[in-house]
Amino acid sequence: MRTTFLPFSTPTIDEDEINEVVDSLRSGWITTGPKVKRFEEAFKAYVGAPFAVPLSSATAGLHLTLLALKITEGDEIITTPMTFASTVSMIILAGGTPVLADIEPGTLNIDVNEIRKKITPRTRAVIPVHFAGQSCDMDPIFALAREHGLTVIEDAAHAAGTEYKGQRIGSLDSISIFSFHPNKNITTGEGGMVCTSDENLAEEVSLMKFHGMSREAWKRFSASGTPNYDIMLPGFKYNMMDIQAAMGIHQLPKLDGFIDRRKEIAEFYNRELADVAELALPAYAPYQQRHAWHLYTPLVRIEKLTIDRDQFMAELKKLNIGSGLHYKAIHHHAWYRENMPVPDSELPNASYASERILSLPLFPKMTEEDGRDVVAALKQVICQHRG
Ligand SMILES: Cc1ncc(COP(=O)(O)O)c(C=O)c1O
Repeated sequence: MRTTFLPFSTPTIDEDEINEVVDSLRSGWITTGPKVKRFEEAFKAYVGAPFAVPLSSATAGLHLTLLALKITEGDEIITTPMTFASTVSMIILAGGTPVLADIEPGTLNIDVNEIRKKITPRTRAVIPVHFAGQSCDMDPIFALAREHGLTVIEDAAHAAGTEYKGQRIGSLDSISIFSFHPNKNITTGEGGMVCTSDENLAEEVSLMKFHGMSREAWKRFSASGTPNYDIMLPGFKYNMMDIQAAMGIHQLPKLDGFIDRRKEIAEFYNRELADVAELALPAYAPYQQRHAWHLYTPLVRIEKLTIDRDQFMAELKKLNIGSGLHYKAIHHHAWYRENMPVPDSELPNASYASERILSLPLFPKMTEEDGRDVVAALKQVICQHRG
């Protein structure tokens, strides 16, 4: 058994990131400023987005995007139950009603046929989540959206570097929202980016992100600026800081290398776990795409074991192997059970995955030995708890 704990994820931070943050700290300018602009331009160019707005988180991006779309009470937004709470919370906090559509059993991405079933005259938008870094099937989603006049908002929190049929997520004709939380494929500590082809939406999000102020602080306080400003609307405090962007500037050029390494580890798991009947491994989508391998999420076939998924994770932990839970399905959480109950029979695939899913360690700095330790621990737990 390994003697040190292997976390499910840890960011890869090198001297470049550290020096750039120190440079900001020494410069006298630590909040939104020239480094945020540099990161915005670099990220926009990387994904191929016409417009990009850097923010304090992807949650902020979801919130402001939905507000910019003027969602009002009664408006329905269709999304997946296999996502982080913020996708759905932001729909509610923006004044809309979330409607959950079931997922495909293999990729765990939202199922286009299930979206179709949930469309009503009140549907305004659909939020597909590129689960684990694998692109949703966007062509049929866009076709459905065109047919019914819906806005498509891609929750691209997992999808920095993901491609769909040769196009980077962020460059499709929609709105994509990325996260730079520490366990994401690149990090700014906390941070997010709204990428879009819609200039008006980008402007609206940009205005709302900092108090609705007509000019950003660094433009007012720089030598060439003037301190006066106007408040154009009541806004939020969702801006990204230079000390965050300082990290992003050096993370972004490493993203492709990070994804290559993640892919190697995922393929190692695929090979080593292929014959383990107690695990259902993640499936590849049938269309051409580039998986960014943010997560590696097998399902534990608990029917074949004497323990449930949570006990399985606890057993792994005893062997010094960390794991993550992405995700307990939205409708299984306390608030949703209480306030917006959806029976499991309506979301059978998400309900099934919710009880069985776990995320194995997956991060660029993992060694081959770390990978072998994970596989050995999985096999040991399965062997000891076979039903
Ligand atoms: C699918 C999904 N959406 C949204 C978010 C929110 O991202 P952030 O933490 O940057 O607000 C996350 C973060 O974990 C996520 O995984």
